Formats: sequence, structure tokens, C-alpha cells
Amino acid sequence: MTNPTTLPAWQQLSQLRSQFADFSLRQAFATDPQRAERMNLTAAGLQLDYSKNLVDQSVLAALLQLAEEAGVATLRQQMFAGDAINNTEGRAVLHTALRNHSRSEIIADGANVVPEVAATLAKIKAFVDEIHSGQRRGFDNQTFTDVIAIGIGGSFLGPKVATEALRPYAVAGIKLHFVANVDGTALAEKLKRVDVARTLVVMSSKSFSTQETLANTLSARDHFIAAGVPVDAIGKHFVAISSNVTAAVEFGIDAANVFPMWDWVGGRYSLWSAIGLPIALAVGFDNFEQLLSGAAAMDQHFTDAPLAQNMPVLMALLSLWYINFYGSQSQVLLSYDHYLRGLPAYVQQLDMESNGKGVDKQGNPVSVSSGPVIWGGEGTNGQHAYHQLLHQGTALIPADFILPLQSHNPIGNHHQMLAANCLAQSQALMLGKTLDEAKAELTAKGVSGEQLELLAKHKVMPGNRPSNTLLMNQLTPATLGALIALYEHRTFVQGAIWGINSFDQWGVELGKVLGDAVLAEICASEQLNQLDPSTNLLVKAVRQGVIRA
Ligand code: F6P
Repeated sequence: MTNPTTLPAWQQLSQLRSQFADFSLRQAFATDPQRAERMNLTAAGLQLDYSKNLVDQSVLAALLQLAEEAGVATLRQQMFAGDAINNTEGRAVLHTALRNHSRSEIIADGANVVPEVAATLAKIKAFVDEIHSGQRRGFDNQTFTDVIAIGIGGSFLGPKVATEALRPYAVAGIKLHFVANVDGTALAEKLKRVDVARTLVVMSSKSFSTQETLANTLSARDHFIAAGVPVDAIGKHFVAISSNVTAAVEFGIDAANVFPMWDWVGGRYSLWSAIGLPIALAVGFDNFEQLLSGAAAMDQHFTDAPLAQNMPVLMALLSLWYINFYGSQSQVLLSYDHYLRGLPAYVQQLDMESNGKGVDKQGNPVSVSSGPVIWGGEGTNGQHAYHQLLHQGTALIPADFILPLQSHNPIGNHHQMLAANCLAQSQALMLGKTLDEAKAELTAKGVSGEQLELLAKHKVMPGNRPSNTLLMNQLTPATLGALIALYEHRTFVQGAIWGINSFDQWGVELGKVLGDAVLAEICASEQLNQLDPSTNLLVKAVRQGVIRA
């Protein structure tokens, strides 16, 4: 992989950036009446308005050239073909195969994965139908009303966010509860709300070795037994999803109740696999399939559309322009839909665990900034909190606004107000308020003299702050699938340009290893003080359960 800064397009972009200091979005719209029209793109049920970005045609052309020179198309082809592009783990990256039902052969590690994907989907469908129809029941023959889904990271966020987002499609009579954190409170609070006789536990762990998930499942099992579920019937209440089927069976899950997944599905890309079982339980198998087909539509757009009209490619390039040429260190996702309030957390893991890397595929230091901090929340709530910083803070934080055009809950004119707020926020970020405008506004209110001079400076909003707006007709299983796949591919394109492996996560390992040593210290019969002085002191506090006098 070539260092991206040596590519001709990178150098051209550096030059363009130096000429871009005075670029004004107000000006750009004033001089180009077609700008908005031209910089809108529709794909897979989503519309992207990218006109409020700090780019002109020359910057866009150079960014697209960068994607060409960095070999994005080749890596994309390799990913979809099942090549082992996750080079540090020697694995294919084939989450797209989980939602592509049009091909009869997709090869990973020399084997066709299509039949096992189809077989697993059939197993999910049969299981979900049996739960919903009441055919599959608990130990005392009662039907299931609650599902506790235990998993963390990629084995939690996808199912949680999709289940929340698709609430309008929820199957009546079944409630989903998610437990991720090893904090006993997370599990205890969910267990308090359910009748174990009518509760199914779905344990999701690709590796089947994750501390939090194993501990929560064991404690849930103890609770079920203490609450009256006979040990020999506990299997009726526990199912698992894992690529380590043997470990799941050894753990005590009935072999028939283990749903497989595979090494070629990364944890944070796994909601399309059996890890999505809680979604199918929540909204029914047909809606789960719609979710997959929405993602497949985005895959097709990503593979087929020319780079210049390719939504994930454009979003990746625009974001990279700010990261690498404006020094922007964070990007914000603003969901103007209550059901989509979890999306920022989902994209946060997707992007930060994928591209939060400091070395390239060959192990050389990455010479430019890679993945930024991704954060965000729900509009309009954020407008009364962190939007202040977006508008007047010193950092440049590009924003993605996400707005479904039709509400699932059309009460009065709430949706119009929501939409107006969303549009007005991106408008305010773009237009800002000049000193003259601030003074005129204050003068009109009767403020004058020193007070006017002082207040006007505080009311200035720099503006020229970039954003994308993503629209969809309505938040449906298919549009949600397309939206998530869009962010997956955006992440992929950036990783491809930086030359990093977006599919491993070595950075999370050290904390896990040290965690075991710290736990041993905390649980030892007497403190051994074998850690560093600061950690020893803190361990002492944990052991004693009280702070120092
Ligand atoms: O700790 C990070 C991570 O490895 C994620 O990548 C993964 O999604 C999560 O832990 C859970 O892993 P598992 O599904 O193997 O329990």
C-alpha cells in the first residue's frame, strides 16, 4: 500500500486546500444556482444532500481522483469476492454475503458460503416463527413474552439499535431487553422486569470468550434456576449465536439451539448474521429480510455506481477532506428521529473500532490522521446542549443530519417542527451570522453603544460549517438496512485510502489482558501489590469498598 500522501491527488488536494482559505458556502450558492440540485444524490431509498460542504468541482474531482489512485475500487472488488483483506487475521470480509441472495456462490477460504448462509437464515426463520406462534415454549409449557439478549460490542449494538429503530414493526406480545455491561446492575434491572418462565435468553458472542457476555449468561442461568426453572429444562430458555459452536455446547447450550456465524463476519459488521436473531424476534423474520435487502441495495449501489455518483464513496471523501486537510478530529451524527437515537453509538463503534488505527496494513505508522471521534445524538435534544459548540466552538465538526420525511407517529405538526429544526440547524451552521448582521439585529432591538459592541461579538456565528443531510421517505427495515450499509462502506473507503486494515481490533486486547490481572488482584485472599503503584492504590480501594479517609 502506498503512503496516501505520496499520491498525486493528495498533493493536488494540499494545494487546493491552501487556495481554499476564503471559500464561502454563502458565496458558492450565490454564484452557482445549480449547486444544490447538482450535489444531491439518491440511492437505495436514501437521498444525500452534500451541497453544504466546503468543496467545489475542483476539490471534488481531486478527491475522486484520490479514491482512484488509492485503489478503492480494487479493494472493494476484493472484499466482495471474499479475498482475505483482513490481513492481520488472515480473514475474508464478507458481511455483504449475508445480505446478497442473488448469488449462488461466494467463496471464502476455498468454500462456498452461500449454502450455510441460507441454511442459517432458514434456521432463524423457523425458530422465530416457533417463538411467535407459541409452538416453542418454556419449561412449564408457557409461551415466551420476553427475550433477554446478552452480548456486547458488535454482538449488542446492531441488534439493539435496529430493534429500537424498528419499534413500529414490533411483533405484539414479545419484548426485547438488552444486556451488555458486566456491571451487575445491567442484568439485575432486566431480570427484575421479566417472568423467567416466559423468558428466552439469547446469548451472542462470536468468539464465545468475552468476559462480560459469559458472566452475564452464567448469572442469568443461576437466576433462572433460583427462580424455579429445573436444571434439566434450562436448555429451553437459552440459545446462543457464535462462530465457536463447540464452546457454546460445552458451556451448556443445546447444540440444536446454537446458531452459527463465521470468521469472515467481523463483530461490528455482524447484525446481518444470526447475531441479528434478536431483531428477527422483535420485528418478525420478514422485516429482518427487508433489513437485509435494504443493505443489499446499498451494496449494489456501492459496487455499481461510478465513484462520482457513489454515496458511500462521496461521504467518505468529504469526511476525509476535513480530517486530513482541515485537521478536523471529530464528526457528529444527528438523528432527527427518536427511533434512530441509537445510530450515533452504532456508527461510533463501527467507525472507531475499524479506523482508529495508527499503523497501515504493513505495520508502518500511518502518516496522516485516520479515524476521527464519532459522536452524536438525537435532534432536537442536542440543540439544547452540544449544538452551541457546533455553532460557535473553535473546532470544525462536520455533521450528518438524518431525517425521515414521514413520521410513524404523526401527531399534530410535531413532524413539521422536527423537520424545520433539522433543516434550520444545517442552515445555521452554513450561513452563520456576521458581525454586521449581529449589530443590525441588536440595533433593531434598541441596543446601542458599548453594550451593542460587546454583545455583537458574542452573537457572531462563524458559519461555513459543513454538513450532509440524509433523507428517506420513512424509517423502514429496508431504509435502515441501507443506512447502516452506507456507513459501513463509508468506513471501508476511508480505511482503503489510509491503507489501514479496517477489520481487526488489536487495540482492545491489552485492556482485556490487564483486566484479568487486575481482577486476580481484586479477588485474591490478600492484596499482592503486583501492579503499578497507582493501580495498586486503586485496587486497595476497591477491595476495601471505601475511599481513603
Ligand atoms: O472488544 C471488542 C470486540 O472484540 C468487538 O469487536 C466485538 O464485537 C465484541 O468485542 C464482542 O465480541 P464477541 O462477539 O466475540 O463476544
